[in-house]
Amino acid sequence: MVTSGHCTYTSKAMNVLIIGSGAREHAFARAVAASPRVERVFVAPGNGGTALMGGKVCNVPLKAVQLDELLVFARESGIGLTVVGPEQPLEMGLVDLFRKADMKVVGPVQAAARLESSKVFSKEFMRRHGIPTAGYRVFGSKESAMAHIGSLGEEHFPQVIKASGLCAGKGVIVADGRNEALSALREIFDDRIFGSAADEVVIEDFLRGQEASVFALCDGCRYRLFLSAQDHKRIGDGDTGKNTGGMGAYAPAPLVTPEVMRKVEERVIRPTLEGMASEGSPYTGFLYVGLMIEGGEPSVVEFNARLGDPETQVVLPLLKSDLFDALLASVDGGLDEVPFEMHPGSAATVVVASGGYPDVFETGRVITIDSGAESQDEVMIFHAGTVLDDGRLVTSGGRVLSVTALGPNLKVCLERAYRAVGRVHFDGAYYRRDIGAKAL
Ligand code: AMP
Ligand code: GLY
Repeated sequence: MVTSGHCTYTSKAMNVLIIGSGAREHAFARAVAASPRVERVFVAPGNGGTALMGGKVCNVPLKAVQLDELLVFARESGIGLTVVGPEQPLEMGLVDLFRKADMKVVGPVQAAARLESSKVFSKEFMRRHGIPTAGYRVFGSKESAMAHIGSLGEEHFPQVIKASGLCAGKGVIVADGRNEALSALREIFDDRIFGSAADEVVIEDFLRGQEASVFALCDGCRYRLFLSAQDHKRIGDGDTGKNTGGMGAYAPAPLVTPEVMRKVEERVIRPTLEGMASEGSPYTGFLYVGLMIEGGEPSVVEFNARLGDPETQVVLPLLKSDLFDALLASVDGGLDEVPFEMHPGSAATVVVASGGYPDVFETGRVITIDSGAESQDEVMIFHAGTVLDDGRLVTSGGRVLSVTALGPNLKVCLERAYRAVGRVHFDGAYYRRDIGAKAL
């Protein structure tokens, strides 16, 4: 054992398992592999980018939802720490399963992950603990929801209709008027557009303002903050068109001033950690707080029980200190004592997607990346929907690459990121041209 400051490390380096297949998990793999205390990094299932990393990193052909198989793999491979990227395994209870088997894992238990997996739980939790959020009602049938909409005067619109369950970020309809809300309810309850995720719906007031997100790493009572970020959810320039998983992001978000961050800590993060602990499910892992900010006053739009994608691709590269040490401390204790420093400056990421996304798109397109497109400390290309097929890198999903650049300010980051985007090629590649533009 060696002791450095307050942190005690076993001298033997650790094997880490990262669960997921997106650019978020590629960014995790890169950050964790940089730690001298990490021996090997396994990514399940990973993607073409993690397959090409080499060195400490390799893929494991297990999906994020194969919980039992992942546990067997983790035991047999001497995994010392597991990090969960996406929400489905959290909702399914991966953390509960691993903990029961005495395996260290970063993420919330199933009951705590309800902050994301059940909008009804999350809204009721916020109401119980006085956390600022839009006023809402919950409905379990079309008739009661339609009667409620019918009873609202036109001045109460827009109203926001949300499936309670997980919907890959797509289970939200903003209805500008009564007729639109009624037809949305018919689609939800009769046509089942959100499936069983919408057995219950939340209908809430529309919040005005600008969106930004705050991310905390939590150990059940303490937390450390990453930089704030802003996502671009719509497919088209100028925030037009359909919602996507996220087409680009930047950090820090100028909207989250130190004063706003203080309010978020005081009114949201601390009451959330205290509330979860007092209700018997202490919150551990990453807490993503999606905010609407109007006149410097933050309100919670949503919680996620994980880091965001593409936000991770800007937030992790801006962490200067060792991510692995902080992750381990969030499980073992000592989170408040571990170094947690940010680089000065900014980061931006531009997502390059398959033409047609978020609707139908083709896969199997060969990807080429010009040599020199990436540079060690300035430009990183994180992969999402890519696979290695007979040694060739080909597209396999909607969001294909997430091109991140660091720099002294957002303007420089965006120039660097877009220059690198010009050096990646595949048929039908699509990206937004206005990432970060609003913040300049
Ligand atoms: P959610 O899945 O709850 O984050 O909602 C997806 C997106 O819908 C958010 O990022 C917002 O852009 C929008 N949205 C959700 N709830 C509200 C609300 N109450 N007021 C305004 N916009 C909202
Ligand atoms: N970028 C939004 C999310 O990960 O939920």
